[in-house]
Amino acid sequence: MANIKFHYGENIPLEMHKVRIVQKLNLVPIDRRLEAITEAGNNTFLLKNRDVFMDMLTDSGVNAMSDQQLAAMMVADDSYAGSETFSRLEIKNQELFGKKYFLPAHQGRACENILAQVFVNPGSIVPMNYHFTTTKAHIVLNGGSVEEIVIDEGLNINSDYPFKGNTDIEKLNALIAKHGPEKVAFLRLEAGTNLIGGQPFSLENMREVSHVCRQNGIILVLDASLLADNLYFIKVREDQCKNMSIKEITREMADLSDIIYYSARKLGCARGGGICISDEGLYLKMREILPLYEGFLTYGGMSVREMEAMTVGLEETMDENMINQGPQFIEYMVDELKKKGVPVVTPAGGLGCHLNAMAFLKHVPQNQYPAGALGAALYIVSGVRGMERGTMSEQRDENGVEPLSNMELLRLAMPRRVFTLSQVKYAIDRIGWLYENRDLIGGIKFVEEPKVLRFFFGRLAPVSDWQSKLVAKFKADFADSL
Ligand code: F0G
Repeated sequence: MANIKFHYGENIPLEMHKVRIVQKLNLVPIDRRLEAITEAGNNTFLLKNRDVFMDMLTDSGVNAMSDQQLAAMMVADDSYAGSETFSRLEIKNQELFGKKYFLPAHQGRACENILAQVFVNPGSIVPMNYHFTTTKAHIVLNGGSVEEIVIDEGLNINSDYPFKGNTDIEKLNALIAKHGPEKVAFLRLEAGTNLIGGQPFSLENMREVSHVCRQNGIILVLDASLLADNLYFIKVREDQCKNMSIKEITREMADLSDIIYYSARKLGCARGGGICISDEGLYLKMREILPLYEGFLTYGGMSVREMEAMTVGLEETMDENMINQGPQFIEYMVDELKKKGVPVVTPAGGLGCHLNAMAFLKHVPQNQYPAGALGAALYIVSGVRGMERGTMSEQRDENGVEPLSNMELLRLAMPRRVFTLSQVKYAIDRIGWLYENRDLIGGIKFVEEPKVLRFFFGRLAPVSDWQSKLVAKFKADFADSL
């Protein structure tokens, strides 16, 4: 929202766009919702979209595109090699990030595969503020390990610290002293740390990290998938950056990094991804792998239409009135839930609103997956689909022991420019009601548990008949309302 004050003092985010294409939504009745979540094995990943009212599972590939993006898709230049579309994308990346080379890849994890194959060897370590699931999987697959060096405040669920994604410089120095810089494959900074509530890092902290990396000859890799949110937070929360433009902040972050990669399913509200780099030797090493996994150098697994949408989307990301919509809607949701006493991750971050399931469901033990149970319960009472980010998302160790997660979060992602404020208010209303009735919610247990990434396909069942009791209470309170 631009600087617009409301005469009556209301503090609501105002959309700086209008909606020209709409998709009809259905809110199926609560009896069908109970059936649907049962059919889905109490796993929100397995719900069908036709049964979902607000899809808050993720923001990946589901952000709204602009009219300019759609228009650009119509003039794409299709060719296997050397298309004008690729040239436009390459030039836009060079212009924004100032790196000489751009390698296209079909999505973020494809970039991670290339980086891990080139830089990670058995015994390598990769320090990072915080891991992401796919990043870690590729590093481990290549024999390396991840070392998380986020500041302690980053794991404090309730805080008012503005940059909970910052790297702890002391932890970084200690790690380098312990292992030696030659063991470090690269250091990765995740802008808008996904798994700890979309929390940003500051530009000042990034400068310090980059300084340590350069002193020690360590490559700094920026995961810019959630860069848009992080840029916004730097602009509004970091005093020294108030007078910098979004483009200037982007360029300084890029100058502090050696390599930038991103998922364009998030950055630029399109699909696809890519890697930006200036070092010719490293570029050539990565380029060798590209045709094996992605495709030719001028499409990297993407369609030309996707690439055109990316080019426009990247430029639009430089517009503060575009990138502020997500964080401001999230902040609104977090603030309203806080007023109702609902436990949420604070301060509000990017990506989505995160419910603290451990505090919401104090009576549900971690091995009965409070965040997963809350996800199933919220879907039943509202048709809102969130994503479990807790113990269910962890993997058993080689002895079959289940590690308990640091946090039990139900992530309610806020796809950008997709929901209206009234829909967000509806979600807040139902979450508030659910919190008042939280004693009715019980745990869930696996009935089918895949060995790898069990949260994607696993099926679970309630440990008691708590779901039908929840439905009965809903009907008593809401009568014939959906
Ligand atoms: N890095 C970050 C920070 C991400 O959030 C993601 C994806 C990736 C890399 C991988 O990118 O999906 O294009 O292969 N996050 C999605 C999510 C899946 O729902 O948070 P991808």
